[in-house]
Amino acid sequence: MYTSILTEVDGAIGILTLNKGERHNAFDDVLIAEITAGLRELEADRRVRVVVLSATGKSFCAGADLDWMKRAAGYTPEENFADARKLADLMAALNGLAKPTVARVHGPAYGGGVGLIACCDIAVATYDALFALTEVKLGIIPAVIGPYVLAAIGERYSRRYMLSAERFSAAEAYRIGLVHEIAPGVEQLDEAIGKILDSLLKNGPQAQAECKQLIRAVSGAAIDTALMEDTAQRITRVRASQEGTEGLTAFLEKRKPAWVAG
Ligand code: COA
Repeated sequence: MYTSILTEVDGAIGILTLNKGERHNAFDDVLIAEITAGLRELEADRRVRVVVLSATGKSFCAGADLDWMKRAAGYTPEENFADARKLADLMAALNGLAKPTVARVHGPAYGGGVGLIACCDIAVATYDALFALTEVKLGIIPAVIGPYVLAAIGERYSRRYMLSAERFSAAEAYRIGLVHEIAPGVEQLDEAIGKILDSLLKNGPQAQAECKQLIRAVSGAAIDTALMEDTAQRITRVRASQEGTEGLTAFLEKRKPAWVAG
């Protein structure tokens, strides 16, 4: 069904793999449409609790396909905008996924590749992963990925790396908060991700979805009466929910909550 991605369900883990390795997983209209569809598929699949974003080939993702970018520049302004909007929709879909997302990063991740990582909840990379926001080198800007990159690494490092287009290492990506963990090779990368997945799968799925909504709602918001009301409303609702009741009762009864398989 897909030509540029693979989707797989392994127990409660949904894996979406960028599979255009010969093109360094650079995204054109087909890859953008397929990642968006693949995310929707895994979000809707009731077996899937967590989504891993992975890639085949030498690079995690070389960002936008520059032939596609150049082609789009020749479209009518309306078509050009509609095309750009699809990339914005993809980033919003990944960022807004209700299920926890983990980026499994190896090799270069440039431009939109950094955007994909910034849209995931958790990111782990190999030591040899490389990162860059190369857009200005090409006379363009990291526009649709901008909000997510800023949220991940903050304004200070965004200013440096968006303006200089310097390549930076996995160690630097770790230091500035783009990735949460780095691993010497792919074997250790998978071990590290396995441990994170184990932790993710022990927690209440509804609570995780609510947490993601909470983070989006409060991030950058002024701490005023309205925000206090909103956060109090959230815990009021969630602790009275079926999952909240089960989680609290299971703890007090010294047993595993019902959502933990086995
Ligand atoms: N769009 C279109 N084609 C791309 C591409 C992209 N983003 N990135 C790589 N390619 C193509 C190259 O043009 C080349 O095509 P060719 O074999 O027809 O000449 C092929 O992929 C291999 O690239 P090459 O540079 O020879 O491989 P490499 O292993 O030395 O380096 C990258 C791989 C990804 C590090 C390097 O190609 C690169 O820096 N690409 C640009 C990435 C970028 O700036 N993206 C941001 C876009 S906003």
